[in-house]
Amino acid sequence: MANTPVRLDRSGDVGLIIVDHPPVNALSRPVREGLIAALAEIAADPGLRAAIIACEGRTFIAGADIGEFDHGLPGPEVSAVLHAFHASRKPIVAAIHGTALGGGYELALVCHARIIAPDGYVGFPEVRIGLIPGAGGTQRTPRLAGPLVALDLVTSGRSVPADEAMALGLVDEVATDPRHAAILRARHLADAGLLPRVGERSIPAYDRAAFEAAVAAVHRRARGALAPVRAAEAVEIALTAPLAEGLAREQAITEALHHGPQSKALRHLFYAERRAVRMPGASPWPVRRVGVVGGGTMGSGIAVAFSDAGLDVTLVEVGEPQAQAAERRVRAIYDRQLHGGRLTGRLHAERTGRIRYATDLQSLRDADLVIEAVVEDMAAKQTVFRALSGLVRRDAVLASNTSYLDVDQMADEVDAPERVIGLHFFSPAHVMRLVEVVRPRRALPEVIATALATVRRLRKQAVLAGVSDGFIGNRILGKSRAQCEYALEDGALPQEVDAALEAYGFAMGIFAVFDMAGLDVDWADRKRKAATRDPRERTVPVYEWICQRGHFGQKTGRGFYIHQDGKRLPDPEVTALIERASAERGIARRTVPAEEIQWRVHAAMVNEGARVLSEEIAARPSDIDVVLVHGYGYPAWRGGPMHEADAIGLPEMLRRVGALHAASGVGWEPAPLLRQMAAAGKRFADLNG
Ligand code: NAI
Repeated sequence: MANTPVRLDRSGDVGLIIVDHPPVNALSRPVREGLIAALAEIAADPGLRAAIIACEGRTFIAGADIGEFDHGLPGPEVSAVLHAFHASRKPIVAAIHGTALGGGYELALVCHARIIAPDGYVGFPEVRIGLIPGAGGTQRTPRLAGPLVALDLVTSGRSVPADEAMALGLVDEVATDPRHAAILRARHLADAGLLPRVGERSIPAYDRAAFEAAVAAVHRRARGALAPVRAAEAVEIALTAPLAEGLAREQAITEALHHGPQSKALRHLFYAERRAVRMPGASPWPVRRVGVVGGGTMGSGIAVAFSDAGLDVTLVEVGEPQAQAAERRVRAIYDRQLHGGRLTGRLHAERTGRIRYATDLQSLRDADLVIEAVVEDMAAKQTVFRALSGLVRRDAVLASNTSYLDVDQMADEVDAPERVIGLHFFSPAHVMRLVEVVRPRRALPEVIATALATVRRLRKQAVLAGVSDGFIGNRILGKSRAQCEYALEDGALPQEVDAALEAYGFAMGIFAVFDMAGLDVDWADRKRKAATRDPRERTVPVYEWICQRGHFGQKTGRGFYIHQDGKRLPDPEVTALIERASAERGIARRTVPAEEIQWRVHAAMVNEGARVLSEEIAARPSDIDVVLVHGYGYPAWRGGPMHEADAIGLPEMLRRVGALHAASGVGWEPAPLLRQMAAAGKRFADLNG
């Protein structure tokens, strides 16, 4: 079997099917062909009584070859390979190290036993690209580990670590040398004449009511995403249908999803996430010690994110009480995780222990990277940068977490401005995956590379952005939320706008988000913008009126909503304010349908997205999609606003933006790039290279 990524070794009477297909041993065509050939050889060789399957390199088969998805699946299908394993008359044991995901774990499921290394993982990530496990995963997992475990796995897409996989019955043994253990077990099965097939088991007893409740929860959480719902349906099929029928129906669901718009959108995002961090050339500088200046909402969350990733952090505040307050914030985050069972006592101690608190910038002397997260005020930020400049090594990277301000102006204060960069985290910083890496004019490629590598180390998603008021995300958000505020004045109420956005698939409505973030956070920025805005631009005064009453959202109990016992209730006073705003502008209030709110918000995003592109604030449309999905709760299954615009068609988008312009006036002119692309019959995807 020369030249194939699958070889057959021997250990006495046990055949060793070894897959060697870097980087992740994906089930691509040559692997599938090699596996079928190896099985035939084992079947034909009387000297072999049993076999194992194991992989070289860093992992077991980590899944299908996603590159083949868009070009059909040439050669034998995964299901044909798995069927050949299932039909084997000699026992085969899977020896798993690294990750056995998707088709990789499905292959393990058609083996006659599964052994995993202590640091291994199993799981079904298919839902993340809008699919379900399509080669028996939804049918065999419930037979092996029960319907509830199967439901959790196939609908969440999470990877299950070895010890948990063992406890759930997803594997048979955890062994430090899984290959050796698999050989022993394979021989033992052959000796005993056993050929235990998962597919032949019946569904273990389970709690029907708990299962139904879990399915209902999947539906609730899906918020429009089809794959988790259909994955749950496939598990339900397994509960009553014989294996062959279940496999056929699972296959049919997979096919339908594969050709549907949601999987296309999610695959677009999958590639978009990788494209966004592509930067040729420069090598990153090493980062070991991190400093954070300012320990408020953001600084404390950023410190947690770094400590979670194993880095030592020194957090500097203005004084002792502020430093203590920062420490309390950090502790509150970790205590919640500990009490919620998401963190062990040992990790709690380790992670809290990695963060030191100080009141003097001197303690950042030997930091490799310092991130300032002080108040959003240029003078305050420049003071910090000036102080740091004379203090830290000349090759230490200095970053700002500013939401809107010009990072170039901060770099002006620094003796080596080429090491200044923006790292715009989102709130809560230890949770949100997105970080906009803002590149000032002078930033060295090595500094940008260091920023990208740092974000990757935090297991977050970076997107490069140019300096601009609000960078990519907040700039686009500014336009979409303006439309939401116009909708209030036109006749809608906050709860109606939020319901429309949530029905579209957003994690949360915009007014609920305002209330959660605190209205005061943006108030200063709104005042700053009001000073420079074209006075003819339409603005809605309701936000300011609410702020003027001292209602800043959740933290004060009132904002756009009344917050009571963890619930959001409509506020009659806010309704009155909105009605007053309409009256003052002479608008006859009307019903604003949910669909209208949805398309207005989307069109606003796309038009501003086109401007952000032509100003080269974003390098490509797919970067905008990544920002909106990971930073602003845009439904991933729609692929992001720019992908959605392509799906709708740019001429239609131009028509919608024209309608926004007609209704909203100055500031809403269609972006020239959108006009040009619509006229030329192009798609945003054409710019994604
Ligand atoms: P915050 O008001 O909660 O915290 C600021 C902290 O900085 C305070 O604890 C203050 O004592 C401290 N501080 C002020 N001057 C300092 C100095 N010279 N040295 C050391 N510490 C100093 O503010 P927040 O919300 O954490 O925002 C910080 C930065 O993060 C701002 O630039 C903001 O625009 C940005 N940001 C905020 C987001 C949010 O949702 N709150 C999201 C993304 C970015």
